[in-house]
Formats: sequence, structure tokens, C-alpha cells
Amino acid sequence: MTSDLSAYRSAPSLAHLHPRDRSPQRIAVLPGDGIGKDVTAEAVKVLAACAERFDLPLELVHLDWDADRYLTSGETLPEGALDDFRDYFSAIFIGAYGDPRVPDMKHAADILLGIRFGLDLYINFRPIKLHDAHLCPLKGKGAKDVDFVVFRENTEGAYVGVGGIFKKGTADEVALQEEIHTRKGVERIIRAAFEYAVENGRANVCMADKSNIMQYGHDLWTRCFAEVAEEFPAIETQHYFVDALAMQLIRAPERFDVIVTNNMFGDIITDLSAALQGGLGVATSANIHPGRTSMFEPVHGSAPKYAGTGRANPVAAILSASLMLDFLGHKQAAEHVEEAVRATLREGQSTPDLGGKLTTEQVGDLLAQGILGAVAVG
Ligand code: NAD
Ligand code: IPM
Ligand code: MN
Repeated sequence: MTSDLSAYRSAPSLAHLHPRDRSPQRIAVLPGDGIGKDVTAEAVKVLAACAERFDLPLELVHLDWDADRYLTSGETLPEGALDDFRDYFSAIFIGAYGDPRVPDMKHAADILLGIRFGLDLYINFRPIKLHDAHLCPLKGKGAKDVDFVVFRENTEGAYVGVGGIFKKGTADEVALQEEIHTRKGVERIIRAAFEYAVENGRANVCMADKSNIMQYGHDLWTRCFAEVAEEFPAIETQHYFVDALAMQLIRAPERFDVIVTNNMFGDIITDLSAALQGGLGVATSANIHPGRTSMFEPVHGSAPKYAGTGRANPVAAILSASLMLDFLGHKQAAEHVEEAVRATLREGQSTPDLGGKLTTEQVGDLLAQGILGAVAVG
């Protein structure tokens, strides 16, 4: 990392990735299950406050595609939904999916992975940013040390569902679960990571794989990384085996600017990295195909034990909504939300996961009112 690039570090923008010809900008809102519903209600409040304060042309369409609906009707992602999203919507906002009554996650897989795969949202963009030093569990690390983004491949790898079970339930049972890595899929996520580095003043792109043992699929990653890197001579590169990366993220998170990795490893390291910034209660994500309808969601799941208790932190959902505002071209509103969140975190005005005493709703109200200018936040 070089200091002359540091001025750009806090101002990443996704706006150039959005199809700009739509007005009003229609957003599908899918709260999902468990705390997904609780946190989405607060994100919607904040979006409404932003729409009012900044005069944004947003139109929210609420879709109750949850476990209850699946259990009563059998329906998950309705037929034609993906075409409608692609043709008539600018973005999709999701709370979280997962319900103990649906142990195989059928509805979650159909809806969540259905949207990621069906809309070909190949970039899972997960920024890791320490909004206030006291939230970091690492000794001696501050905001400047924990500030990187993960580009998780989002359409292939271990998530393709290719495999099968032979002689199920017998002593001779065989289970096969394939990973699929394509040159097109690997190249485009690596290129997206490098392009982001260039456009956002990031000095270094790190690729993580397990090519020492996954000698076919991850060899493709190693070769594609070297090839794409040649197109970006100004960007430094580093390579880690993912086990070593897990250790380095704890020991020296300041080494990282942009990390690019496959679907499964990206899933795991972003939960780990979330802990560096205060936990899943603040970790955000965007699922993007540049130029197309894209999807925004917190990194966390439905945390069923907290559903309806007021203990869920809505900040991850609210900051994911802020990523969405940025993608939709509303940078000022997005920055305003982030600043309001940072101020409340600094002051300890938070839910119990961050040591505060506020409820989910109180945090949402405070931020929405702060954005409207009704109360001073922080
Ligand atoms: P989880 O992310 O739901 O929760 C793990 C733990 O993190 C919780 O018990 C809680 O202590 C904490 N946590 C998470 N979000 C929080 C928040 N907003 N505020 C405060 N604390 C929070 O993961 P899990 O328990 O492994 O999974 C629960 C369900 O969610 C499962 O069905 C899983 O498959 C699903 N899931 C869905 C998504 C998604 O929809 N994107 C992501 C991860 C897990
Ligand atoms: C996430 C989640 C999902 C994933 C699950 C719920 C399918 O863990 O968004 O990180 O593995 O991608
Ligand atoms: Mn995950």
C-alpha cells in the first residue's frame, strides 16, 4: 500500500456499474426470514428518509417470498420473476434467508442463489471497513488497518450443485460434489477486482486459492490471475493459499487492499473478515453484474434466535442499502448514510452485539431521523 493513494480509499463508488436509463428506479424488497424481516424494515426506513431528503426517484416493491409462503404454497421464486427483475427493476434488496422449518434451505437456495445465478451476478462485492477502532477485536489495530474489499466469485465454484449420491443410506454410499471453474468465470471476477483497484486507488490485489492441492480448478485460477495481472502493471499482486490468508487476515489485515477468490472461500473469509470490523451486524454485500439489475444484502443470515427480539443489528442491512444507493448513482445519499452510521457507532448507540443498549428499531429510527435532519446523530 502506498500513501499517495490513501486519499481515495474512503470513496469507492459502484455508480458506473449501474444501468442508468431507468426512472423511477424500481427496487424489489425481499425481507426473507428471521431477522431478515427485522433489519429490512429499518433499511426501508432509511431508504425512505434518503428519498425524502435527497429527492430520489425510488419505487420500492415489497415481495413476501419467505419460508411461510413456501411452506403454505410450495412456491419459491415465481416463474418469470427473473425476467421481471432484469427488465423492470434497477435493484433487489434482500434481508436474509433461512428457517429451521426448512432444513434443506430449498426456498433460500431457489430465491437467493436463483437470483445470483439467474441474473448472472458474478461479482459478490464485500467491503470490510472498520468504522470505529473500538469495534475491532485485534489488539492495536485501527481504522487504517482494516480497510479492504473482497471480490467473491458468485456464479460457480462449489456452489453449482453438480454431483449426486449413489447407494444412499447404505454402507457403500458415495457422495460426489463437484466444483466448476470456467476460464470465462475466473477471468471476469479477477478482471473486476483489478479494475476496481485501478478505479479506487487501491495498490494491491491478492488472490487466494488452494492450488497446492486443488491441482486442476485452482491451477486455472493461478494462471488466469497471472495473465490478467499483466493487463494492470501498476497494481501490485500477492498470492496466498487460503489457509495462510485466514491467518494473515488476523495477524496483519493492513496488508490487504483487494482480495479476489472463489465462491466458497469468499463466503468463509468474509465472515472471518466481518469479525475484524465488529461482526456480522455491520458486514455488507453487493451482488453485481455491471450494467444490469443487481442485488444487495447484508452478509449475515436469518439468525433465528434473534428474530423479533429487537436484538438484531440493522446496520449491515442499512449499509447494504447505502451500497445500493451508490450503485444507483446517489453517491451523496450513500455517503450521508455511512456518515450517520459511523457517528452512531462512535457514540456507542448500537444494538447489544456491539455493546450498546438500543433495539433494532431504535437504531433504524435514530438513523432515519438523523438523515432527515430531525435529530443530531452522534
Ligand atoms: P447467521 O449469520 O444468521 O448468524 C450467526 C450469528 O451471528 C448469530 O447467531 C448472531 O449471534 C450473529 N448475528 C448475525 N447477524 C446479526 C445481526 N444482524 N445482529 C446481531 N447479531 C447477528 O448465521 P447462521 O446462524 O449460521 O445461519 C442462520 C440461518 O441463516 C441458516 O439457515 C443459514 O443457512 C442462513 N444464512 C443465510 C444467509 C443469507 O440469507 N444471505 C447468510 C448466512 C446464513
Ligand atoms: C452468504 C450465505 C449464503 C452463501 C448461503 C445462505 C447460501 O452464507 O451470503 O454468505 O453461502 O453464499
Ligand atoms: Mn456466508
